Amino acid sequence: MNNIHEATDYILSKIGDFKPQFGIILGTGLGKLTTEIEIEYTIPYDEIPHFPIATVEFHTGKLLFGKLGGKNVVCMQGRFHYYEGYSMQQVTFPVRVMKLLGIERLFVSNAAGGMNPDFKESDLMIIEDHIALFLPENPLVGGNIMGDRFPDMSEPYDQVVIEKAIEIAQKNGISTIQKGVYVSVSGPQLETKAEYRLLRMVGADAVGMSTVPEVIVARQMGIPVFGISVITDMCIPETLKVADIKVADINKILAAAFKAEPSMTLIIKELVASL
Ligand code: HPA
Repeated sequence: MNNIHEATDYILSKIGDFKPQFGIILGTGLGKLTTEIEIEYTIPYDEIPHFPIATVEFHTGKLLFGKLGGKNVVCMQGRFHYYEGYSMQQVTFPVRVMKLLGIERLFVSNAAGGMNPDFKESDLMIIEDHIALFLPENPLVGGNIMGDRFPDMSEPYDQVVIEKAIEIAQKNGISTIQKGVYVSVSGPQLETKAEYRLLRMVGADAVGMSTVPEVIVARQMGIPVFGISVITDMCIPETLKVADIKVADINKILAAAFKAEPSMTLIIKELVASL
């Protein structure tokens, strides 16, 4: 808790009376939204006391403060993944800091593998619900801080905002929009065919290596969440070939994310403006 306060105090010393209303966490390859933010302050993660430092080279690792759709936002450019070696407490540390900075809502995005056969590459999936049970650790284990010991998870994603996002997509002719369940795994290896089959069987539409820890912590602190996945590769066991697995590499994921970014950016920007 002391570390969370020290990080927050450092940030407050840099942003003065700027009050972020929305927190945004951008996923792999989804940095375009930052070009829509009228940035007022930038703080590199490595300047902030106790803040983890982004290690994956395509994550630039900074907090951006500014206006998006006329609202004050704080945006994490680059997130922390468990597979990088961070603890779940470190992965979710920035969410706790954003809470102390005063955010009222959290927006999260990620790149995910599509397991629902109705999906295709570069679709957007609004996250309706998630499955945390395959994660090797839980960010709430340990001393309880900043919220309930046994937080409710019956509706982790704000249904009203989901409906709004769908309206925005329809109004703007975005036909690549889907809704579904996101399952989080630790990675870093991609799944075997048997694992994709299992994850599909338990009701997941998309699989990824992030997001759920941050959402659990946000909900524990009572912050409403909106989440969106970009389907960067399809993971249908029957059609998955060794070659597919080999090329399910970061360049392919980035290319698919790049294609879907404009629609995702528009949806988040309009949502922020409307809330
Ligand atoms: N599995 C896990 N994470 C992912 C995948 C996947 O197939 N695709 C993009 N992120």
